[in-house]
Amino acid sequence: MSDRPFLEHFDPMGIYEVLFSFLDASGTYMGNPGTHPWAQGFPLTTQLPDGPTIPSSISFEPTDLKYPPATGGPELLEALRDYFNGFYGAHLSTDNLAVFAGGRPGIFATMSFLDPAIPFMIEETEYTPYWDLLRLMKRRYAVVASNESNRFRPEVEDYAAASASIEGDDRRFLIKSNPCNPTGVTVSGEDLKTVVDYWSQPGHGAIFDEAYEFFHSPSPVSALAFVEDIDETDVFVVGAATKGLQTPGLRTGWVVASKSNIEIFRNYSSFGMGGVARPSQLCVADMLQRDRVQQARAAVGTFYGEQRAKYAAGLSAAGIELFTGDGGFYHWGRLPGGLGAREFNTRLFKHKAAILPGTLCDMFRRGDEGPHRDFIRFSFGPMEPETYDENMEIITSCL
Ligand SMILES: Cc1ncc(COP(=O)(O)O)c(C=O)c1O
Repeated sequence: MSDRPFLEHFDPMGIYEVLFSFLDASGTYMGNPGTHPWAQGFPLTTQLPDGPTIPSSISFEPTDLKYPPATGGPELLEALRDYFNGFYGAHLSTDNLAVFAGGRPGIFATMSFLDPAIPFMIEETEYTPYWDLLRLMKRRYAVVASNESNRFRPEVEDYAAASASIEGDDRRFLIKSNPCNPTGVTVSGEDLKTVVDYWSQPGHGAIFDEAYEFFHSPSPVSALAFVEDIDETDVFVVGAATKGLQTPGLRTGWVVASKSNIEIFRNYSSFGMGGVARPSQLCVADMLQRDRVQQARAAVGTFYGEQRAKYAAGLSAAGIELFTGDGGFYHWGRLPGGLGAREFNTRLFKHKAAILPGTLCDMFRRGDEGPHRDFIRFSFGPMEPETYDENMEIITSCL
């Protein structure tokens, strides 16, 4: 091996920092039995009240073991097309869809093929890996204020100010999680229509990351309800079976885009991905059948809506000032008395518990010098309802 590394070093995304310090302090992996993984973003993978059964086997034939088609097998593409057309009145054909091994690979592919000259716009408080991806790909980006001053709900003026700060190129590309991870703030209804119309214009494009589509109260939301003709846009709607269908382990996600953009993904798959595991695709296609998915949307929305409300009451009573919106399975709030999120975690580790420090959602990455120092993202995604009292006791004692 040579003295100088052949691979350029790149750190894992921020949450791993928490996972490693958790392991050091508690001697066990976060997520193992007996731990309280409030830092982690996975849903329960068990049946929810009034929810559909969760698959426990997948059957396939020897022919299913052949290479899958580059952008997805017909069963899943058709199921996705019918899902979006049926629930949101979209006008998609299967040529508007590409299947990836989860949501992140779809985001990664979209960003990789975007013309490097196009500047990104991103809200100040966003999903951790966007920052890693922008850095890895050396992309230029302008940050839209999303902080306490606007209660993490950026307005048109905040967008206009960020856009005006960009020099040299008139084009703009938005990357946005909706519902937002970590804040749960969700743009819906007429506001979402305005946003979609704006980013659908020529010279504009966007990734709407809808990983938490089902987790919005009172009902799921998608930008696809407002995209008139996706073939006329550079809009990319990203989704995954990960959260809503409660199957992170199936590693199945998708991107909805214009036919010409999907063709780029097909070409990419031919040399860089080779398609996605067919057994996973078959399983997800079954889970998207109309009645089952309808039941899943209702059960996920109700269950997690109740958990959101219950934890909102508990965390607020414990003194945490919440800024959470109506979506996702996180609470976003500020610790009382100037307590920093890192110090809070040091206390929580003794109880085999951890939160995600808000600094990891800061798209300026200012660390503890920045305004996110005493903000936390508390995940109730993996929490069984009966752990509520114990969870609240730990939190209260560590405050
Ligand atoms: C905002 C957001 N987008 C996308 C994903 C995609 O997850 P995956 O790549 O596991 O499907 C996640 C999961 O944490 C997420 O929070």
